[in-house]
Amino acid sequence: MQITTTTQSVNKDAGLIIPIAQSDEKDIILDRIAAAFDLDADLLRLDFSASAKEVLNLQGKNSENGKQRLFLLGLGENPGISKMIQSARAFIHNRKKKLPLQLQLSFAYGNLADDLIRSAEALINGFCLGEYNIGRFKTDEDLVAAVETSLEVLVEAENKERVDEAVKRGQAFAEIQIEMIKLVNAPSNHKNPVDLSNWAKQAAQRYGFTAKVIEKEDMEEIGLHGVLAVNRGSEYPATFTIMEYKPEGTALKKVGLVGKGVTFDTGGLSIKPSTNMHFMKSDMGGAAAVFGTMAMAARLKLPIHLIGIVPATDNSVDALAIKPSDVISSYSGKSIEIIDTDAEGRLILADGLSYMVQNYEPEILIDLATLTGSVIRALGYVAGGLFTANESLSKQLLNAGTRTGERLWSFPIWEDYGEMIRSDVADVKNFSGKPMAGAITAAKFLEHFTHEHACWAHLDIAGVAMSDMEFSMQKSATAFGVRLLTDFLENL
Ligand code: BES
Ligand code: MN
Ligand code: ZN
Repeated sequence: MQITTTTQSVNKDAGLIIPIAQSDEKDIILDRIAAAFDLDADLLRLDFSASAKEVLNLQGKNSENGKQRLFLLGLGENPGISKMIQSARAFIHNRKKKLPLQLQLSFAYGNLADDLIRSAEALINGFCLGEYNIGRFKTDEDLVAAVETSLEVLVEAENKERVDEAVKRGQAFAEIQIEMIKLVNAPSNHKNPVDLSNWAKQAAQRYGFTAKVIEKEDMEEIGLHGVLAVNRGSEYPATFTIMEYKPEGTALKKVGLVGKGVTFDTGGLSIKPSTNMHFMKSDMGGAAAVFGTMAMAARLKLPIHLIGIVPATDNSVDALAIKPSDVISSYSGKSIEIIDTDAEGRLILADGLSYMVQNYEPEILIDLATLTGSVIRALGYVAGGLFTANESLSKQLLNAGTRTGERLWSFPIWEDYGEMIRSDVADVKNFSGKPMAGAITAAKFLEHFTHEHACWAHLDIAGVAMSDMEFSMQKSATAFGVRLLTDFLENL
């Protein structure tokens, strides 16, 4: 989508989008629109309630007496960022080929003027995301072909600069989010650990950070035993990607991000039931969040020294695959008893976390992972789980979640839960063996590998990395975490 911000519209036959929140003033707004475009106000009130994602498609007359195509776009009551993005995304996605190729967006008639900058960024982000096409492997070219739309954002001169910046941000986020959505939606025969590390190398060039990759043949010597253990059952060599972004001036903070990059999780020998196994192509949603945040931090030139680590492998079944009862080592040197090979994410994160702490000593340490089914049973698909003992970090992350609509909810990590993963034979076991508190015991496991870092948080995003989207009948990727973490970093 070609987007410009302008005070003077040039496209006289563009379709005009008017976003409207549901509120008491809605009728006054509709009166105003009816007067401006020579429409029947009573009919408008009957036909349009401004609920989220509602669209009323009209033909009016503008002041120059020309025909004007109008789209009233409902946003729902007190729309937060999420509802605005969803409504805009659905608007473009659902109409794709039925839309005029030239569109305009105006805040002059609706009720978003008080919240102009936030709304502009969110709506533009949603419009751009709406262009994503999930039918990557369809052979009918008509279905896959991109539609080249243009959009003029109409503003008053005094707001032009600020709106323009918001528009560019919304667009930049969408670009990165779509790259991540494509990566997460890619099936396992089109996505292996090398594909993930290659994405990082290319993005590093494009956006201005560095990426280096530890290849499988060097892992034994370096001591990445957790990654190697999970990779034993795989035909694809594991990768361990280390990205670094340094700002030009002095950095306010040094932040380390670690993302789970399991390109497909069969469960290993503790194999998963087949019903929902196809969703396990998304088991690198944590990696995608870290990738996307690296790219955004570099694009926005944030004053933060950022390090991102992505251990990547699939978790497959093979004669050489790890077995329950195996005892493995880890980068930290701690031994781990394998109770369930399906608790694989924590094994590769253990190495990622230790490696980060021991080699980079970040002031803030955050890991993201599609780690447990347990967090989905607790929070559904509505929020990610937050696990941290650091109160101020907790507040900052929860606030970023509220601001971006990528919500988090906090869990306790009391030592009582730590006792559930004590091993008889090794330093720790990877599963308690009991069907309870699974998300929390997973966090307690990871804690062993943070070397008592004082400012560490674990985000379990199993329920939010995939969600119901306009693009698909089944759940599909969300790029959850990119806006959350970028917002968190911007507000440090
Ligand atoms: N990747 C899964 C968690 C998951 C489940 C993500 C559903 C998204 C949707 C993870 O590796 C896993 O298998 N976790 C197990 C751990 C258990 C065996 C201790 C789980 O939560 O069931
Ligand atoms: Mn698993
Ligand atoms: Zn997994």
